[in-house]
Amino acid sequence: MKIFSRFVLGVSLVIFLLMGLPAIAQAQPEPAELAKAVEEIENLDAMRSDLAAYLEAATEPPTAETMQQVCKPVGMKAMQLSQDNGWQVKQMATKYRNPAHEPDNLHARMALAKFEQDPDLTGFWEPETLDGITGIRYYRRINVEASCLACHGAKNSRPQFVQDNYPQDLAYDFNVGDLRGMYAVFIPDVKQAIEEALSPS
Ligand code: HEC
Repeated sequence: MKIFSRFVLGVSLVIFLLMGLPAIAQAQPEPAELAKAVEEIENLDAMRSDLAAYLEAATEPPTAETMQQVCKPVGMKAMQLSQDNGWQVKQMATKYRNPAHEPDNLHARMALAKFEQDPDLTGFWEPETLDGITGIRYYRRINVEASCLACHGAKNSRPQFVQDNYPQDLAYDFNVGDLRGMYAVFIPDVKQAIEEALSPS
């Protein structure tokens, strides 16, 4: 009986894999597009680090204006990347400053937990369905650097504009090396299918 039920289980697993795998393989976007997403996110992350380092190194005291020039532009660039590529590029954090950056589903929460548990994990891909649209999502960790602490350090030392504009702020009391959050890039399959159908073969 035990052997029989194992056999049934084994056969169902094989059938399940045979049914599921080709669909998954077909659905995945081109490797070149995945590589492009990874590259764009590296650029985006470098942009933030550069802006923060620039602000930290500035000899003149930062003005309300220059203070806004670190993470807001990252959000704007993420929006631009979404529009240009047909992706959905987001930043997310458990302790978020902008409520728009709250993790948007259970998978995103699990991804943040995974990064939290494994400091060596830089990024990974996962099949995802968002609003009924199937696709794949790339997650990339964001770490806290020394230059981030000016705005994400001790609660009481946050700049005035942060205290004024983000009354629900949770993104403080970080230390260097902490996980600050992650980027999440959703690449839908359908867009791929449409592009393939339209492009001359
Ligand atoms: C000059 C102040 C300032 C500095 C320096 C700064 N940030 Fe931010 N950060 C902000 C503000 C303000 C927001 C909210 C932006 C928005 O409304 O989208 C934010 C948002 C974020 C977010 C999006 C998630 C959330 O909490 O809303 C991440 C991730 C982030 N910062 C990471 C970093 C990292 C990493 C560094 C250092 C490399 C850094 N920040 C340096 C001010 C700053």
